[in-house]
Amino acid sequence: MTTNEMNLTFSALSQNESFARVTVAAFIAQLDPTLDELTEIKTVVSEAVTNSIIHGYDGNPDGKVHISVTLDDHVVYLTIRDEGMGITDLEEARQPLFTTKPDLERSGMGFTIMENFMDDVIIDSSPEMGTTIRLTKHLSKSKALCN
Ligand SMILES: Nc1ncnc2c1ncn2[C@@H]1O[C@H](COP(=O)(O)OP(=O)(O)OP(=O)(O)O)[C@@H](O)[C@H]1O
Ligand SMILES: [Mg+2]
Repeated sequence: MTTNEMNLTFSALSQNESFARVTVAAFIAQLDPTLDELTEIKTVVSEAVTNSIIHGYDGNPDGKVHISVTLDDHVVYLTIRDEGMGITDLEEARQPLFTTKPDLERSGMGFTIMENFMDDVIIDSSPEMGTTIRLTKHLSKSKALCN
């Protein structure tokens, strides 16, 4: 089975969050996902990209967010990466309702949403390297990549 990959890099600006969500959804559409699967993937992209913009780069638009999507049969592999400030205590950050920005009306549910909607969530983060989120989702239908 042929794998199909795309990469996207954009400035850490909040108006690019919907661009990223729609672009990833358009790429994944070729696998014929259900509406629920597509909604879940779009939500997860929004959460991860928003985290990179508001936490990773703390609103600095000079930062860059990198997305990579690989389709392999009916499996979607999604990587969202920033070179921002990183996370010092990953276990704490993954707890439901934990947020370091309660003042910005964050609810601390981003990682919990990612874990609920995806089959696998791997977070690599350090103050030196920034943050990389690797997400895997198996779609219910299998469709051959024929074009
Ligand atoms: N890319 C990132 N770079 C640095 N810190 C991050 C990053 N992503 C998440 N974090 C840290 O992990 C915490 C938890 O993230 P999570 O997305 O679960 O909640 P939140 O962003 O604070 O709130 P919500 O997503 O509900 O608006 C954040 O408050 C932040 O401290
Ligand atoms: Mg968040």
